[in-house]
Formats: sequence, C-alpha cells, structure tokens
Amino acid sequence: MAGSIETTAGTCNLEPHTTLLPVAKLLLLRAEVAELADAPDSKSGGARAPCGFDSHLRHYSRMPPVKVGVLTGGGDCPGLNAVIRAVARQSFRRGHEVVGVREGWRGLVEGRFEPLGPREVSGLLPRGGTILGTSRTNPYKVDGGVEAVRERFRTAGLDALVAIGGEDTLGVATRLHAEHEFPVVGVPKTIDNDLSATDYTFGFDTAVFISTEAIDRLHTTAESHNRVMVVEVMGRQTGWIAVVSGIAGGADVILIPEHPVSLDDACKEIRHRHARGKDFSIVVVSEGYELDGLDDQGDVDEFGHTRLSERGVGARLASEIESRTGFETRVTVLGHVQRGGSPTPRDRVLATRYGLKAADLVHEGRYGRMAALHGDSIVDVSLAEATARLKTVPDDWYEVARAFFG
Ligand code: F6P
Repeated sequence: MAGSIETTAGTCNLEPHTTLLPVAKLLLLRAEVAELADAPDSKSGGARAPCGFDSHLRHYSRMPPVKVGVLTGGGDCPGLNAVIRAVARQSFRRGHEVVGVREGWRGLVEGRFEPLGPREVSGLLPRGGTILGTSRTNPYKVDGGVEAVRERFRTAGLDALVAIGGEDTLGVATRLHAEHEFPVVGVPKTIDNDLSATDYTFGFDTAVFISTEAIDRLHTTAESHNRVMVVEVMGRQTGWIAVVSGIAGGADVILIPEHPVSLDDACKEIRHRHARGKDFSIVVVSEGYELDGLDDQGDVDEFGHTRLSERGVGARLASEIESRTGFETRVTVLGHVQRGGSPTPRDRVLATRYGLKAADLVHEGRYGRMAALHGDSIVDVSLAEATARLKTVPDDWYEVARAFFG
C-alpha cells in the first residue's frame, strides 16, 4: 500500500513498503503522526511540525536539516570520540550536517572548525582522547570572548552546538544559554564523576578500571617487600576515583577530601593492621585530600582551578607515614595514565547513549538541556541544574570503604 494518512498537518504519504506493517503498528504510527501534528516546531517558532518520515519510516523530522557544531572541552577523557561518533551518526541519519569545533571553546573564540563526515567519524568507538582536540579556554576570561563565540557561531552557519565537557565547559554552556539563548546541549564528561544531576559521567569507569589495575599490581610489591604503598589518584575536589578503585582494589586506607580522616587515624589503621600480622598496606589518596601544612601551589587555569598534582599529597603522605610508623613506604602517582587510552565497554556504551540523546535534543530543539543517566535510563536535565554544584562522595559510599580499613 503506497497510501497516505490525513492529519491536521496535512497529507502524509506512506512508502510502498508500508504494506508490510501489521495493522497494529500502522495504528500506532497514526497515533505518532497525530502527536507530531500537535507538537510545536521550535525552528518555526511554534508552527506545526511538518509530517516528514525518512525513507525507512524510522524517524520523522521535527526540523529541516541543520548544521550542528560539536566541541570537547577540559581534560581529555576516554569516550569523547564515542560521543562524537554517536552525535554525528544520529544527525547524519536525519539529514543534518555536523561540524567539529577545534579545541573546546577556543575553537569558537578563534573560529576553528572542521567538517565531520562519515569518513571522519569512522573507527572512533575504541579511540581514547578526542579527535577535535581540547583546551581549558574560558571565553568569559578572554577579552571579547563571548561576543567572538556568538559571532563565529553565526558566521559558520551553525544552528546548534553539542558541548561535551565537565563542570567548566558545561558551566560556560549554561551561561551562554541563560544569557544569550545560545542553542546548546550538554554531554557530561569527566573521569572525576563530580557532575550532579547524572548518576555517572563517562570516562569515570575507565579511570576506575586503570586505577584498580594499578592497585592490584602494587599489592604484589607491597606484599613481597613488607611495604606501605601509597597510590595517589586524580579527582580534584571529590574522591570518587579513590573510593571506588580503593574498594575494588581492597585498599586498607582511603583518604578523600570529603571525609577527612586525619593522618593520625590513618597511621593508627596501618599500625593496627601490622599488629594483626599484615606486614604491608595499601593507602589510596585522592589528589585533593587536605593534609596539614600542604599548600595549594602551581598554575591556576582560566576556571580558577589549581593544578592539584603539584601539591604532591601522595609524596608528603608517604614520608609522614614512614616517619610516624617506621614502616618502609613508597608512593606511586598515577597521573594522566588514568585518562589515557581506550574506554572500557561500559564507557563506550554510556558515551554512545549520551551522544544519541544529545543529537535527539538538538533535533527536537530542546536547548539548555544535558543528557544524563538516572538508574539505567538516559534522560535529560537542565544544564543549570547539572552545573549548580559538585557531586561529592556521600557518607554511605565512604562507609563501604571504611568497613575494610586497618
Ligand atoms: O578533571 C579531570 C582531571 O584529570 C582532574 O582529575 C585533574 O585534577 C585535572 O584534570 C588535571 O588537569 P591537567 O590535565 O590540566 O593537568
């Protein structure tokens, strides 16, 4: 049946292979068409949506083809390329054009773009880093930066932007949307897992996997040499990586900024362990853990963050533990190894689901939103809500870790 359905929006022609659809499906389709006819079209300022099925009857267009920019900002993170691929593939299927913005917000300030076609996004799923490059540029800290972003966006003919980033990159997106109705949607990225309004950010699972593997390896040396091994992991002001990889790796003490166990108490746990015949210990410390006498030092980025790796909390902790307990102690700082390489399967899938959701939000013209994970479902939340505060490690998570101290 190469027929048609009459709707209040007009006549909708059905493709010849529609005859293969069972009647129930066809009725369902009619209901979808009716719903679509009622939905306002954001691009046309509230006019009724066109009734346009694609050739496979899988998608309908809520808007004519648009040009979608994609940028990745902040620290690189496993899964960024998987998001870019998903955004692009979903957008291509709907006839939209996709443009890569080079090096985060810097690319919009300076007008650095590259077209992304099927060839450019092929083979990206397992690739670490970001093919678009990244930076910690904050347009609000660059003279004329915000005006430049808006002007470059306009002259490049872009209609929408997908910003993939953490609290800083998405903080800029939030402000641009609030202050200028900038058509942007967000995707939550960071190994730190510190963005509120989503259960998990992509990249975190890979960082935890790498850190856990490192802890496992350090266990064998700790045990063979009767040593205390201190492992410093990233995480900025939150201890998610430390807590989750510490639990997974069977750490004997875990020190994080949100739950400040004192150095004295940490040493007590280690002594207690040795007293019951365990001559080695694993201590996992988050880079943001507060240790008396340790000052923040080093470069501050455009978002006001100090480079925490330069505090040297792991090294200082190791030397304090050795001098207070008398047990031989060594330190390993994992650093950027945690952010490098191929994403875990879980991160690939999460990044892919986020990318599809971001493309859907653009397609529906629902700007100022961010893809998020709630339970096992991908939902969308407001960017403002997601960037309002950091998601810290709650008490019950830390109690799981603490149950195995000493
Ligand atoms: O936010 C991700 C993160 O890896 C933090 O855990 C860490 O403090 C920071 O970035 C390091 O930044 P950079 O790569 O600029 O040294």
